[in-house]
Amino acid sequence: MTKVNLGLEGRVAIITGAARGIGRATLHRMMAEGVHVLAWDIDPAWAEEITRIATPDGVKIAAFIGDVSLAEAWQEAVKSALAHFGRLDFLFSNAGISGPAHPVSRYEEADFDRVMAINARGVYLGLKYVGQHLSAEGKGVIVNVSSISGLSGGGNIFAYTASKHAVVGMTKSAAVHYAPNGVRVLAICPSPTDTEMMGYAERLVMPDDPQAARPIFTQGVPMGRYAEPEEIANVFAFLISDQASFMTGTIVPVDGGTMAR
Ligand SMILES: NC(=O)c1ccc[n+]([C@@H]2O[C@H](COP(=O)([O-])OP(=O)(O)OC[C@H]3O[C@@H](n4cnc5c(N)ncnc54)[C@H](O)[C@@H]3O)[C@@H](O)[C@H]2O)c1
Repeated sequence: MTKVNLGLEGRVAIITGAARGIGRATLHRMMAEGVHVLAWDIDPAWAEEITRIATPDGVKIAAFIGDVSLAEAWQEAVKSALAHFGRLDFLFSNAGISGPAHPVSRYEEADFDRVMAINARGVYLGLKYVGQHLSAEGKGVIVNVSSISGLSGGGNIFAYTASKHAVVGMTKSAAVHYAPNGVRVLAICPSPTDTEMMGYAERLVMPDDPQAARPIFTQGVPMGRYAEPEEIANVFAFLISDQASFMTGTIVPVDGGTMAR
């Protein structure tokens, strides 16, 4: 079998939510591809933790601590990527929170605003500030993380579902806007993935035996299991590469067949 070289060496990515889960797996995948990464998280411990990550020869990573819901943080992050690495090619807008598991009739306004601020406003700000930079350069790729909750309604995670639908809409709108400038914009929609976000959901459903809650979350997945975070990172690597050069505005489920049912 011919090995495909994705040709990503020496490029620069910003990954949000990089300290854990899907973002962390994507950081490692990017390092393996020779991509330098500004690894952004809100957790202040990340600045120290990142110093213990071994990088391949010639690959540089740097921590950025900030909140994706703040415009100033995005402006700083773009500056920081350029200061560290001298260029910026890709954004993985991945940071997100699940928020409380309530339906609309019991959803508190403050919780709604917090989930929308991180999951939707954060993605909008990335599209705006990183998009401005990439379109001035005439090339680049932004991949946003939505969810299967961005494609179908789930009665119990109201704001999360709203925010992930917003990510789909923003991805399509930004893709059309930036296409003439050579910037591609896409979204990935994972089904339940084996990270702390699902660990939290499992503990909510079955506090005494969280592992026993897994079948509840996998019953709608034809492949019958959680995704591994690396399986989401693999799709990101493909989408930012020239192998996907004619794809933009595309919403990509990575869901073991869930949306095919
Ligand atoms: N795990 C799943 O089952 C699943 C399924 C579909 C979509 N997703 C989406 O994938 C993305 C990553 O999820 P995960 O499972 O890796 O979650 P996770 O909770 O394991 O990791 C999320 C990371 O984002 C960081 N973060 C949270 N708020 C932030 C903020 N305001 N600014 C900067 N960083 C912040 C956290 O500190 C953490 O490191 C999220 O957008 C999530 O909605 C996850």
